[in-house]
Amino acid sequence: MNILVIGGAGYIGSHVTRELLDRGHKVTVFDNLSSGLRRNLFSDAMFIHGDILRCEQLTAAMREGAMEAAVFLAAYKAVGESMIKPEKYSINNITGTVNLLNAASETGLKYIIFSSSAAVYGEPSYLPVDEKHPANPENYYGFTKLEIEKFLFWYDKLKGIRFASLRYFNAAGYDVRGRISGLEQNPANLLPVIMETACGKRKELEIFGNDYDTPDGTCIRDYIHVNDLAAAHALALDYISKNGKSLTVNLGSETGSSVLEVLETARRITGQPIPSRIAKRRPGDPAKLTASADLARSLLGWKTEHSDLDTLVRTSWEAYHQYEDCREAPHT
Ligand code: UD1
Repeated sequence: MNILVIGGAGYIGSHVTRELLDRGHKVTVFDNLSSGLRRNLFSDAMFIHGDILRCEQLTAAMREGAMEAAVFLAAYKAVGESMIKPEKYSINNITGTVNLLNAASETGLKYIIFSSSAAVYGEPSYLPVDEKHPANPENYYGFTKLEIEKFLFWYDKLKGIRFASLRYFNAAGYDVRGRISGLEQNPANLLPVIMETACGKRKELEIFGNDYDTPDGTCIRDYIHVNDLAAAHALALDYISKNGKSLTVNLGSETGSSVLEVLETARRITGQPIPSRIAKRRPGDPAKLTASADLARSLLGWKTEHSDLDTLVRTSWEAYHQYEDCREAPHT
């Protein structure tokens, strides 16, 4: 299939692009390179330097490439920042998606795979969280993801554009075959922050609270390997194109790991001391969040292969360690 991967030079986007190429799709990456990196582009994919806020660029990319599907990964994702700068998240995440849907409708593009998030659920009222759990986002980032799901629903109904909304839990790790060489810029997520501390780019890891109601007092999350996530995108596209039906599914490993468990695993695997200190709780952090991925398993035949904590940490460390000094990792 001809597929436009919007945000394909980014962290998850580059892994998804590689997966789709490996499965024989014809992929064009569309990215404004604001956080995506040229080094994440592949020679067997086309590249368009374009912006989702420029409708005409999206429309031209879809029309010229006779695109049948788009994968949309060009969103901002820093939860804390979204509470301080909602405008940035409204414009990029929401307006960007509306532009995508309008371009799809104008050009006859049939399928959209959307990166949604567990953040749509908010504070969980039961665990593991399945897709029937009420959606009450606690941060503006999660709100944008939920609103976008509603747009997708309406464009499906009114325009017949089928979608797969993939509610990622905590994406982590790097390509198990070492094919992605760009590191995330200014990361705020736990594992990249730990990696930057391991290689001396940061002084210490701040652990956001150790007085939660969990066995070791730190928050528990469901970390899912980015190669497993990437495979789910390809399977979801197969599903919606074969069945002519949209779907919304969780993507998680169904395993909970605490901040301290991730840190201890990283200390063991990297052999680095990784200094840390206990800091204040981060507002809006639920104590524990784990997924039920039953629906993705049964509808898509998806299963995780790389999402154990050791593989998550090992592949991250390999990505950071490919540079003699990861403090100097290239920004392009
Ligand atoms: C959040 C979203 C998730 C989204 C992701 C994108 C929620 C519940 N989850 O994940 O859906 O895909 O952002 O960025 O909104 N931590 C530290 N120190 C740090 C960084 C993190 O202790 O320097 C802790 C956090 O408090 C948390 C855990 O590590 O307990 C994971 O944090 P993070 O990687 O930021 O992801 P979430 O906030 O869980």
